[in-house]
Parts: sequence; structure tokens; C-alpha cells
Amino acid sequence: MSGKTIIATGADGQLGRHLRLSCAGSSDRWIFAGRGDLDITDPRSIARLMEGTGASVVVNCAAYTDVEGAESHRDEAMLVNATAPGYLAEACRERGATLIHISTDYVFDGASSLPYSEEHPASPLNVYGASKAAGERAVAESGCRHIILRTSWLYSRFGRNFVKTVLDRTARGDRMEVVFDQTGSPTYAGDLADAVFDITERRLYEGNEGIYHYSDEGVCSWFDLARQTAELAGRSVRTIEACRSDRFQCKARRPAFSVLDKSKFKERFKIEIPYWRDSLKRCIEEIKEETR
Ligand SMILES: NC(=O)c1ccc[n+]([C@@H]2O[C@H](COP(=O)([O-])OP(=O)(O)OC[C@H]3O[C@@H](n4cnc5c(N)ncnc54)[C@H](OP(=O)(O)O)[C@@H]3O)[C@@H](O)[C@H]2O)c1
Repeated sequence: MSGKTIIATGADGQLGRHLRLSCAGSSDRWIFAGRGDLDITDPRSIARLMEGTGASVVVNCAAYTDVEGAESHRDEAMLVNATAPGYLAEACRERGATLIHISTDYVFDGASSLPYSEEHPASPLNVYGASKAAGERAVAESGCRHIILRTSWLYSRFGRNFVKTVLDRTARGDRMEVVFDQTGSPTYAGDLADAVFDITERRLYEGNEGIYHYSDEGVCSWFDLARQTAELAGRSVRTIEACRSDRFQCKARRPAFSVLDKSKFKERFKIEIPYWRDSLKRCIEEIKEETR
């Protein structure tokens, strides 16, 4: 039984654009709202869209995702990542709708050497992480039905991301120094979108409220991800060199280790998660196909 109405916010971002593809054969009515259609920092626009559509599920893909930029644009990051999810949650609570909210591995400080479980206390190192942690709290404390899905190291053929930067730079033969002392799990936005679609299509959110971790399977450093990207694209890896994080003067500190433990997600939803290298290969093939 289906046929519900679902609003996806931030629909022109990496996840939003993949969600459009994942949902192509859905039995539900999906409304994809880009920033121009719905500014999530405007509670009246949220109320209007929810009233007008009768949506019973909202998937929040909108976010301020510039980790470095957030250090000098704290107010904007907090507004979009912390205050606005609270507005969405409140609108969902008032209408008995469910909010599926996307969050990040950067809520953790990286001091652990074991994969982070959902119960591990958030302790962000940077403004972006702090704003996302505050957004999680706003959603959880609103009293709306919700699922918070934390993910990590998203990439896709859409928008700007690390994998595309590596492809551009190796195509030009540019020398690149890439950190080997930050470990995590790359996640193809298409895999996350498929998982979100599965959860909505099969109403798996019912009776399964709470926080979940989702990334692709496996673990690597940014250096490994860069090398693997170049290799899969058939480019030389000679220009990619490993370095430590202190080689760069970044405003935002990043967690050294942000691997997410996905046991709860797998046990509860029984959704298979692809291995990161397999998905990376798929994404690179898609990018090649597009530029052919
Ligand atoms: N990217 C990563 O590596 C990563 C890692 C872990 C978790 N996540 C989380 O995963 C989710 C999806 O990330 P993503 O990579 O798909 O992000 P993205 O590509 O940056 O897309 C975010 C979208 O949100 C839009 N947006 C910004 N402010 C908005 C507002 N006030 N109202 C409506 N839309 C607004 C952006 O529009 P503009 O482009 O016009 O600003 C953009 O289209 C986010 O919650 C993010 O925090 C991302």
C-alpha cells in the first residue's frame, strides 16, 4: 500500500539529484524542491508547501556543506544546518508527518579508533560539524517522527566533490598532495539515495525512529581515495603524493577517524550496502559516459 506524498528539499544538491533518479519508478508522489522552490530557512514557505501538497514525509537533503566556508560564515551555517531543520521538524510534528534528516560523520571528533556507533556522544571539531549536531538535536527534541541518517564523504557526478576534483587535476597532470592521516568511508550519493528511497517506498521509517549510520562499506584515507580514483579513471598516479594534515593551513579541523558503524542500519532495514571501490568504479564510469 502506498501513494503518499514526499517532499525532498535541497533537490539540486548531490543527494537530491540522485534521489530524483532513485525515485523514478516510485509508487509515491515525490515533490523535488530545490532552493529556488523552498528555502528551508523560511518557516512560512515550509508550511505553505506542506499544506498545499499534504505531504506525509519530508526528506531533508538541503544543507550548508562548505566545511571550510562555515568557519567564516558561522551564522549562515547555523541557520541552514541547525535552525532550519528545527523548522522542518516543527512543520512535520504539527501535521503528523515524518522527517528524514541527513547528517554527518563530522559530528564526531575522530579520537576513537573504533567505528562510531549512534550512541557515541557528538563532539564536533569544526563549525560545520557543530551546526549539523545542533540540527540533529533540533529534530530529535521537536517531538516529530524522524529518522536521522548520518553519512560520510559523499561524492557523485553532480556538483563539486573530492572525486571530481581528483579527476580534473589528474587530467591536467597537476601534482596533488593528499592527506593520509584522515580515515573514513567514501559514500556514493547514488547508494545513499537508493537507501533513502527504499526506506520511504517500503515505509521502513514506521516504528524505526532514531539515528542511523550509513556509508558505503570499507575504509580508506583521502590519499587512498585519490589514488583509487585516478587508477579507475586510467590516469597516472605518479602526481598524487601522500601528506599529513598539518601540511595545509585549514581553518576547519577535521576528524582523523570518522568511520561509522552501520550495524544498526543493516540489522533494522536489511538493505545491502555496496563496497566503496565498486561504487567508485560505477560513478567514474558514469562520469566518463557523460563526457563522451
Ligand atoms: N558532501 C559531503 O561530503 C557530506 C558528508 C557527510 C554528510 N553530508 C550531508 O549529506 C546531505 C547532502 O549533502 P550533499 O553533498 O548532497 O550537499 P550539496 O550537494 O551541497 O547540496 C545541498 C543543497 O542544499 C541547498 N541549500 C543550501 N541552503 C539551502 C536553503 N536555505 N534552503 C534550501 N536549500 C538549500 C544547496 O543549494 P545551493 O547550492 O544553492 O547552496 C544545495 O543544492 C547534507 O545534509 C550534508 O550535510 C554531506
